[in-house]
Amino acid sequence: MTMRTNNCRFCESDIVEAVNFGKMPIANAFLKKEEIKNETFFELATCYCPQCFLFQLIEQPNPESLFHENYAFFANTSNYMQKHFSELSNKLIENFDLKKNDLTIEIGNNDGGMVKYLKDKGFNHLGIDPSKNVSDAAKSKGVNILNNFFNFELSKKIKNLYGKAKIILSANTLAHIPDINSVFQGIENLLEDDGIYITEDPYQVDLFNKTSYDQIYDEHVFIFSLNSMNNICKKYNFEIFDVEHLETAGGSMRYYICKIGKRKISSNVNKYFDLEKKINFLQNSTYIDFKNKCEQSKNNFVNLLEKLSKNNIIASYGATSKSTTIFNYCQIDTKLIKYITDTTSTKINKFSPGMHIPIYDYKFFNDNLPDYCFLGAWNHSDEIFKKEKNNFSVNGKWITHVPEARVI
Ligand code: TMP
Repeated sequence: MTMRTNNCRFCESDIVEAVNFGKMPIANAFLKKEEIKNETFFELATCYCPQCFLFQLIEQPNPESLFHENYAFFANTSNYMQKHFSELSNKLIENFDLKKNDLTIEIGNNDGGMVKYLKDKGFNHLGIDPSKNVSDAAKSKGVNILNNFFNFELSKKIKNLYGKAKIILSANTLAHIPDINSVFQGIENLLEDDGIYITEDPYQVDLFNKTSYDQIYDEHVFIFSLNSMNNICKKYNFEIFDVEHLETAGGSMRYYICKIGKRKISSNVNKYFDLEKKINFLQNSTYIDFKNKCEQSKNNFVNLLEKLSKNNIIASYGATSKSTTIFNYCQIDTKLIKYITDTTSTKINKFSPGMHIPIYDYKFFNDNLPDYCFLGAWNHSDEIFKKEKNNFSVNGKWITHVPEARVI
């Protein structure tokens, strides 16, 4: 089941179609052989709202088909992301004077998230995640968890049970939730008057500047800009008092949000408003340019793989949801990429969505080092390069598609 919209999910204005990537499977639905025949597809097409700037998908599979008891992504597969979450938990204590009894809620805390680090330090916390398997993993680490979708209704229950929150957090979660109004109503309902909401998600400026179109897949129903986030905040009497550009998830923005008038606005906010004015996210030519760059990226990438695969074995590193968009949009199958390697047990010995490239464990990769490796998990490249310095990187070469297709 999918949901299609002709109107902006936030402000209900008519949307304008942007890039269409064609028929797409569920990005994280790695398949067993017997599941291939029942695979489902939807149309991966993007649009923007000329009123509120919100860049979004036209069609999205139902959230229940994406976030469930077999959710494939476990955040603990990246040491870098764990360090990133741990650092934010320290920042909350140092910069925002968080006290042990203050409640911090994390929306979408996967297998532990940021509240895990607050829990380790004895702070009052609550994690909320709709996928049962990752919630169970968080629970086994001692994290207080509610296994549910966050929305206004759930916020009422949380308020009754736990009271209001001093801090609400989300990382790579807000972009996943189609009913953005219900989420903000819930946050408005739960946040203390002087509380803060901190959220980080892939940033539209990075997406357009790097042509990293693989950030676009079913789970990312929105890709926010400062402008669109600001418009959403205004409706709920919130304002953005600071922003921080991050390298995570291929280029993200962290927004610090409070009730209007409660905090001094940092000069960073205007700096990014100025940047976005130059790009002009309300001009149709910005989207036509992006569409042309995506097509160019696809052609260059396929040409490169066709040339290299004549005499070499090419594998892909990281069975990512992002690479589902790339492989399906570029129609790359085992003729060009022989296998994918990944460390996540729920993905190993399965097949990639749509193009059915086999996924093998790290031992297989280690025993059968290919000549070239495509960085499917390019957003983790620093961590991967460090790990492979004395292994694959000794004789093998890396391929990337961002910001253009090339051998590194
Ligand atoms: P993500 O791009 O959605 O964060 O997913 C990253 C995927 O890459 C995840 O399935 C784990 C995998 N991975 C490895 O297999 N080896 C690694 O060293 C890293 C950092 C990630």
